[in-house]
Amino acid sequence: MPTNADLNKAAIAKKDEFYTQLTDIEKEMKYYTNHFKDQVIFCNCDDPETSNFWKYFELNFDRFGLKELIATHYETDKPSYKIELIRDINNDGVIDKKDIIKTQLRQNGDFRSPECIEILKKADIVITNPPFSLFREYIAQLIEYNKKFIIIGNLNALHYKEIFPLIKDNKVWLGKSITNGDREFRVPDNYPLNASGWRIDKEGIKYIRVKGVRWFTNLEYDTRFEDLILYKHYTPKDYPKYVNYDAIEVSKVTDIPVDYYGKMGVPDTFLQKYNPSQFEIIGYGRGDFLPEIECVPQRFIEEYRAIGGKGHITSGMKTLCFYKDGKPTFPFSRIIIKRK
Ligand SMILES: C[S@@+](CC[C@H](N)C(=O)[O-])C[C@H]1O[C@@H](n2cnc3c(N)ncnc32)[C@H](O)[C@@H]1O
Repeated sequence: MPTNADLNKAAIAKKDEFYTQLTDIEKEMKYYTNHFKDQVIFCNCDDPETSNFWKYFELNFDRFGLKELIATHYETDKPSYKIELIRDINNDGVIDKKDIIKTQLRQNGDFRSPECIEILKKADIVITNPPFSLFREYIAQLIEYNKKFIIIGNLNALHYKEIFPLIKDNKVWLGKSITNGDREFRVPDNYPLNASGWRIDKEGIKYIRVKGVRWFTNLEYDTRFEDLILYKHYTPKDYPKYVNYDAIEVSKVTDIPVDYYGKMGVPDTFLQKYNPSQFEIIGYGRGDFLPEIECVPQRFIEEYRAIGGKGHITSGMKTLCFYKDGKPTFPFSRIIIKRK
């Protein structure tokens, strides 16, 4: 039988235990306040005693005109509880602590447990930072139950087979407030501080900095349909074609040519500027997503090795490649897009 300490260690190893700061929540939520009136908001990976998601919506319950706020707390190995804040349930005309009800759950508060799914069914919007190790399942469940959501995760998730098609089909998009850099998260006291960026504040609370953090949502916000301003012009020299796929390489989003209407490969950061009425996403630049990509030609691999290329490339691989200033090159990660 694992002890609690073991389980905590396992959760830490999976990097699931880190807590979102109030300021990061505030910075994103302000773009969605028009969606909140009369809604049931569910934070289903949140200990209401510590979660800033709970705190933020409790503080703003009246201002947003929420109907109900619910949080379920997760325990690894024992039954847990839920907390609900219901609009003036005690009918005294004010929203206060008396409107908060704590109820024991029969199960452990796992977002996949039947009890939590029952709560999910009656929720309108789910808002949280879910465990990253379960991100695929987490988003799949929200889509299955047709829920609106604003959740924080990592940009890497877009390379998941379960997530990219949702982005491509415009069922999920990136939020607005985080477009680059890293973000700080509080971690448990026993968290091993071996990450590159960390600090301990005056009260002894530990924080780590996490790269690639992004909000994922399916709620509209004001600037989502703003055009990306394009100013560069296409020339075959500046925009080489891939050797094994019919598209041009555009290595910086700001360099997308104004006058090119064929397929282009762009870095993941494109999604931050993606206006679905300006561009269409064709696919993700890897053979398992886009079977039309051909295998890297043997000759290309030989030339790459001849200039000292050490990447893990084999002839059966369907990964994009092109010549940059005459040198065989493999771009890191590309989304294939086209102008509308
Ligand atoms: C990244 S942390 C974020 C916590 C909180 N939402 C916040 O932002 O401060 C993810 C949380 O999900 C909890 N968790 C892990 N597995 C879970 C599951 N199957 N169901 C619900 N919550 C889970 C973890 O205990 C952890 O506290």
